[in-house]
Amino acid sequence: STRRASEVAGLVRAVPDFPEAGVTFQDITPLLADGEALHDVVRSLARSVSGPQVDLVVGMEARGFLLGAPLAIELGVGFVPLRKEGKLPPPVEAVTYDLEYGSARLEVRSATVPAGARVLVIDDVLATGGTAAAAVDLVERCGAEVVDVQFLLEIDALAGREALAGRAVTSLWGVPA
Ligand code: PRP
Ligand code: MG
Repeated sequence: STRRASEVAGLVRAVPDFPEAGVTFQDITPLLADGEALHDVVRSLARSVSGPQVDLVVGMEARGFLLGAPLAIELGVGFVPLRKEGKLPPPVEAVTYDLEYGSARLEVRSATVPAGARVLVIDDVLATGGTAAAAVDLVERCGAEVVDVQFLLEIDALAGREALAGRAVTSLWGVPA
């Protein structure tokens, strides 16, 4: 059976002041632990693909892996992980991006992203959009095309869509802050 969308969204727990004061953490673990809800969101993500065809799903470490691999299976395509610094053997393509405090680095084994591939980028949460913009940059540096950027949820107040201007961005639901 299919759970009502609002009920599934209610399985994500907003935790104020975690991991630090002023930040509200969106905890997706209760949703992941519910088999029916997990299946529902993966099917919903697959249905919201806007383009005619996706060749590859790309997800960001770590929480993008949790949705990206099942989504790839649902779509019948492969999955490529974008990993944090130093986890993938060379040769890699890398991009450094700004976080609220400091910076981070994402890497990909460029050989796993064929030039011209139509790529769906997936992550759990769209906040400032910094992580997703870096992922898009990395995929394009491999010569592939980003046709869809998907999220389970977006934080409306942070306007992360502005960092992804001109992209096809979809999320299953929004939270105010
Ligand atoms: C979180 C979340 C997104 C990102 C969103 O990941 O999973 O990837 O932040 O924030 P942004 O839109 O402001 O870039 P985090 O870096 O905390 O690491 P994790 O996925 O490894 O838990
Ligand atoms: Mg993340």
